[in-house]
Amino acid sequence: MAGKKYLLILILVSAVAILTHGDGINAETNSIQNWLKNLHLAREKITELQFYVQDILSGPNPSNIQVARANSSLSSPTSFGTVAVLDDPVRTGPSPDSEIIGRAQGFFAFASLEETSLHMTFDLVFTSGDYNGSSISIVGHNPYFNQNRELSVVGGSGAFRFARGVVLVSTVSFNTSTGDAFFQYNVTVLHYSTI
Ligand SMILES: *[C@@H]1O[C@H](CO)[C@@H](O)[C@H](O)[C@H]1NC(C)=O
Ligand SMILES: *[C@@H]1O[C@H](CO)[C@@H](O)[C@H](O)[C@H]1NC(C)=O
Ligand SMILES: *[C@@H]1O[C@H](CO)[C@@H](O)[C@H](O)[C@H]1NC(C)=O
Ligand SMILES: *[C@@H]1O[C@H](CO)[C@@H](O)[C@H](O)[C@H]1NC(C)=O
Repeated sequence: MAGKKYLLILILVSAVAILTHGDGINAETNSIQNWLKNLHLAREKITELQFYVQDILSGPNPSNIQVARANSSLSSPTSFGTVAVLDDPVRTGPSPDSEIIGRAQGFFAFASLEETSLHMTFDLVFTSGDYNGSSISIVGHNPYFNQNRELSVVGGSGAFRFARGVVLVSTVSFNTSTGDAFFQYNVTVLHYSTI
């Protein structure tokens, strides 16, 4: 009898674990070990996300700040050697009034002698919605003045553990006097859905 009761409790606990597992969004309540244990039940899925990143250089609260450069960066036509850190608002639309759903946090360097091109390394950190608490890590080559650029999703956390994918970036607006800009991000991400 005791054995049966134990088995029943075990089944209930497993069912609750699977039911509450969702996409494995909460790192605190769902340990990585449990998540990995259930990974054979998971399927790979593709999620398409579209949002807008607001890059603010002007005013008292810029979200993109230069932190270092070489002396020669000043005379370089491509700003070669300049390094900046960003914490850009991620919005649902290309306007400062659009809802904020996350932040783009990381850094980039002007990394080309030939053209104005950035090497970027940053995280899209979701702060609301279905992916609140999850993040996507992005790395890539960003020739800033090309209309379309392609970066890579190299990983993620929460719902995006083991993620990989493609990020298409285009400039929606660019203020030539301040450098303030809005970028459209089309993210296609391959990740796991736990059943
Ligand atoms: C960079 O410029 C500053 C100020 O002119 C100078 O003191 C410094 O030696 C320069 N650094 C290098 C590496 O040339
Ligand atoms: C996002 O998650 C954080 C931490 O769990 C929570 O404090 C916050 O209220 C959530 N935000 C929204 C908009 O759901
Ligand atoms: C992003 O997706 C939209 C359609 O939703 C499309 O019009 C746009 O061209 C795409 N951007 C890039 C850089 O491919
Ligand atoms: C660019 O920014 C300046 C300073 O904030 C502003 O006066 C101007 O209207 C902006 N230009 C565009 C096209 O938004």
